[in-house]
Amino acid sequence: MQARGLAGAPISVRREQRMKFGYFDDQKREYVITQPDTPLPWINYLGCEAYFGIISNTAGGYSFYRDARLRRLTRYRYNNAPFDLGGRYIYVRDNDAKEFWSPSWQPTRHQLEKYECRHGMGYSIIGSEYKGIEARTRYFVPLGENLEIWQLAVTNHRHHATSLSIFGGVEFCLWDAQDDSTNFQRNFSIGQVEVEDEVIYHKTEYRERRDHFAYFASSVKPAGLDTQRDKFLGPYRGWDNPAVVDRGQSENSIAYGWAPIGYQHIKLNLKPGESQQIVFLLGYQENPKDQKFDPPNSQTINKKGAKATIAKYLSPTNADAAFAKLAQYWDGVLSILEVDTPDEHTNRMVNIWNAYQCMATFNMSRSASFYESGIGRGLGFRDSNQDLLGFVHMVPSRARERILDLAATQLPTGGAYHQYQPLTKRGNNDVGSNFNDDPHWLILGVAAYLKETGDWSILNEPVPYDNQTGSETPLYEHLQRSFQYTLDRLGPHGLPLIGRADWNDCLNLNCFSDTPGQSFQTTTNKEGKVAESIFIAGLFCLAGRELADITVQKACPSHGGSGKCAEGEAEGKKYLAEVAKMEDTIRKHGWDGEWFLRAYDDFGNKVGSKECEEGKIFIETQGFCTLAGVGLNDGIAAKALESTKKHLATKHGIVLQQPAYSKYYLHLGEISSYPPGYKENAGIFCHNNPWVIIGETRVGNGDQAFDYYSRINPSAREEISDLHRCEPYVYAQMIAGKDAPTHGEAKNSWLTGTAAWNYFAITQWILGIRTSYDGLQIAPVVPKNWKGFKATRKFRGVTYNIEVQRSGSGNHVALTVDGTAVKGDVIPLPTDGRKQVAVKAVLG
Ligand code: BGC
Ligand code: NOJ
Repeated sequence: MQARGLAGAPISVRREQRMKFGYFDDQKREYVITQPDTPLPWINYLGCEAYFGIISNTAGGYSFYRDARLRRLTRYRYNNAPFDLGGRYIYVRDNDAKEFWSPSWQPTRHQLEKYECRHGMGYSIIGSEYKGIEARTRYFVPLGENLEIWQLAVTNHRHHATSLSIFGGVEFCLWDAQDDSTNFQRNFSIGQVEVEDEVIYHKTEYRERRDHFAYFASSVKPAGLDTQRDKFLGPYRGWDNPAVVDRGQSENSIAYGWAPIGYQHIKLNLKPGESQQIVFLLGYQENPKDQKFDPPNSQTINKKGAKATIAKYLSPTNADAAFAKLAQYWDGVLSILEVDTPDEHTNRMVNIWNAYQCMATFNMSRSASFYESGIGRGLGFRDSNQDLLGFVHMVPSRARERILDLAATQLPTGGAYHQYQPLTKRGNNDVGSNFNDDPHWLILGVAAYLKETGDWSILNEPVPYDNQTGSETPLYEHLQRSFQYTLDRLGPHGLPLIGRADWNDCLNLNCFSDTPGQSFQTTTNKEGKVAESIFIAGLFCLAGRELADITVQKACPSHGGSGKCAEGEAEGKKYLAEVAKMEDTIRKHGWDGEWFLRAYDDFGNKVGSKECEEGKIFIETQGFCTLAGVGLNDGIAAKALESTKKHLATKHGIVLQQPAYSKYYLHLGEISSYPPGYKENAGIFCHNNPWVIIGETRVGNGDQAFDYYSRINPSAREEISDLHRCEPYVYAQMIAGKDAPTHGEAKNSWLTGTAAWNYFAITQWILGIRTSYDGLQIAPVVPKNWKGFKATRKFRGVTYNIEVQRSGSGNHVALTVDGTAVKGDVIPLPTDGRKQVAVKAVLG
């Protein structure tokens, strides 16, 4: 059975399936949810520049401009039941039957006859049919604009004409989302709106210090509207049963304090088979401070700019054109790397969803999802640098800007604020610094950017420290200071001191917190001259090698980055010598016999050793040391990976450590605060699984690497959605480990370093299409039973059409470029202006 939806697209109907809640439509790059009651809300992001929205499969979620805390447009109620309440709700009312329902299922939760949510690239389409009335809404944010468009198509499939009332709207948030949910004694008295030409303008605090407002408009002249929540809902009623919708009659209420909303009421009379479209707009507008009011001495909002935008996008034709542009944009972004492998889950994740998630993590860092409140964290220094690994090829100019912003929050010591606020771009003092791994991620981020773009000029950009004007040095010096930071902070074994934490925020060896409510990360009562991290030692080796490469290649600042020179070579050697020394130290003091140790605690005792009662072996050091190349020559890397398989691997992924901590250890910190099997206490932290995966490729084990990759690949887990519970199209931060009764259940989807690292692992290490300074490297380490695969990669202005064929079971590569055999596995950059290059790689 098929129904016609917006723009005539058919809504396909699927029968309920037990373990799945939908299916992938790879052709359209959509995930199609066919049952509204997914185990958890399955969300999508609208917007990819400045205006953003989160939308669940039942239209729950909220919108904001740039900063989810400080410029929140719509209200969302945290940890609600149901989970995703507060959203972009549309109600349909049959005026004769006096019955109303939500086409997005929530909030009325009627038994819909057909339901479908299509989450796509930057848009979601939620549609359903109830008693012969189909309603389908396409939500998206046009490129370059600060508004979202909801295109609603209502179709009458009945045999008789029907009189309908459509109510569409939002509940406004009073901008600062934190204050909005706490400061009621003030907030209930400040809400204000204006209504002009049936457009609702939300202007709370505009009369004083704000120069921005929001608006809600509709393309069809409304029969009425409401801007006061209490009037719309009625006393003791919730969003599932608004009094105004029930009666079919707006109150035309004007908010003055309390809770401003923007709801329009549109009446439609549809003949049998007739369809009508309504465009709703929710937008954000800023005015220059001296042009806030119109007329200038009044208190009335100057709406000139907003009116032009509103007029433009209320036209369905313009809305369709904006949607087409968005689709084109994504075609472009996703065409940079496309693969065709024997595994559909790999293809789908690399070509569509993993790349898409990398865009989301780049945009949001860890700020706003259904698990990150948007009022908590800013942009993480460590996180945002790692996010670049999966993003840099998509929009290198934005990566460049991000790198410079991040580096400008670095401290003169080379250390870094752990987080900064996206709106102010200033380091966050509450969280502070001294997470001693932080500075190294900047080196990795910059290296990824340089390899992708060859834009050496970035190294000469003057960048301040702690945003202090006058403190600028070339970016290159920031990298030097990052490296030096660790050398200035070595502990008793010559290993890096850990500070507040390293990658594992919950290994807090200097904290010793026994007071509830204290932050494990920021409460430090030890000076921290003893506890050392072998993880940072591994990271130091990788970052040191990257820095040496950069330096030798052409960074030498006295030569303006213009080419290789003796000075650069000499400096590079110095870095490599430090790396070699650190490798030795790891072998001497960081090797436990069968695996890498994790750390030394504040008493100088081992963490992650067979001597420990619990937490004998940790994934981080096995993964990071092997990926960094530590112990590749003497077999200890291979041994560490064997131990990982033996002690940490489960069918749902590799757990963080074993045995899990069964009680709270004061000297270990937050890691032991979680129940066994969750989060850092032996959960499957999907972020660090790819380190092991890359490690496996470094020892040449493609079968094992791909097996681990598939265990946590969300698409490959779609069949067990009942257990996995999170979205099958994006990675979650964690899957419950084997110590938890919920083993296999995912949590904290979307905003996690897992996205970038898995993308990096599968594309650059398993498929082996790797960026390098000299050209694109082709070094696949794929399963033995793969006969080959194809890929297209756009790199530095050239399109490489790559075909890999297996001729034997090894990983040796024989390259032919445009018919000519080439030595080694790097395709030299074409010097003759060729834009298309045919690459054949024979593996054996
Ligand atoms: C979480 C970590 C997170 C840290 C800092 C901890 O509670 O378990 O995953 O990185 O908080 O926000
Ligand atoms: C989440 C944080 O965002 C990330 O920076 C950290 O490395 C992991 N948690 C592990 O603790």
